[in-house]
Amino acid sequence: MSHALTTDTVLADVVRPTLIERLTLAPAHMDLAYAEEALTRSVGRDLRLKKRLEEAGSQYEFVVIDSPAQLNVLTINTMAAATEVIVPLHSQYYSFVGLAQLLETIRMMQSWVNPGLVISGALVTQFDKKSALHRRALERLRTELNGKIRVFQTVIPHGLRAQQAAEFHTPVVRLFPNSPVARAYKDLAAEVARVQPA
Ligand SMILES: Nc1ncnc2c1ncn2[C@@H]1O[C@H](COP(=O)(O)OP(=O)(O)OP(=O)(O)O)[C@@H](O)[C@H]1O
Ligand SMILES: [Mg+2]
Repeated sequence: MSHALTTDTVLADVVRPTLIERLTLAPAHMDLAYAEEALTRSVGRDLRLKKRLEEAGSQYEFVVIDSPAQLNVLTINTMAAATEVIVPLHSQYYSFVGLAQLLETIRMMQSWVNPGLVISGALVTQFDKKSALHRRALERLRTELNGKIRVFQTVIPHGLRAQQAAEFHTPVVRLFPNSPVARAYKDLAAEVARVQPA
């Protein structure tokens, strides 16, 4: 992926097929960290990914971009290219503390770079329904964001199956389709599809 951002390489030259039909992947490597440094001194640095996606045209139906949370040139690239942002939050209280800062970053992106950017929702992940701490944190999040940002009804549970699937480099919905984590991700897909802007 870093080549597509820092050189003349087009997206088609970095994407790889996967075992899943109609799913291709542009893998990130450690060298994305160097890309960040190289981009700092480059012309049009914030819009590199957007340009690459525009070149790809209608080749892809949906593009999912994984992004770092902290504000850097890679994050700016993802938010400049995206139409919607999903904000994943771990269920512990402390992960909600950085949320205000992240929302501020998104607002800055909306005013300076991508006015059409929509926050489609906050997604609580690794949720342990047996933990009172997690339940309180979720309740508080729903209250605090009420009327501001949608908190997805779907909550991704904490589950060993998610970790095992990562170990096998296979989506959990493929490897363990009936696990609670996989079912939650399928619910999320349906919920996201329902809120897609027309
Ligand atoms: N629902 C889940 N239940 C249990 N473990 C999970 C779950 N989802 C992810 N994990 C595990 O947590 C770890 C971190 O997950 P992930 O990479 O999705 O988080 P991240 O916040 O994007 O991390 P990073 O900051 O490195 O990008 C991985 O080892 C993964 O296997
Ligand atoms: Mg991550």
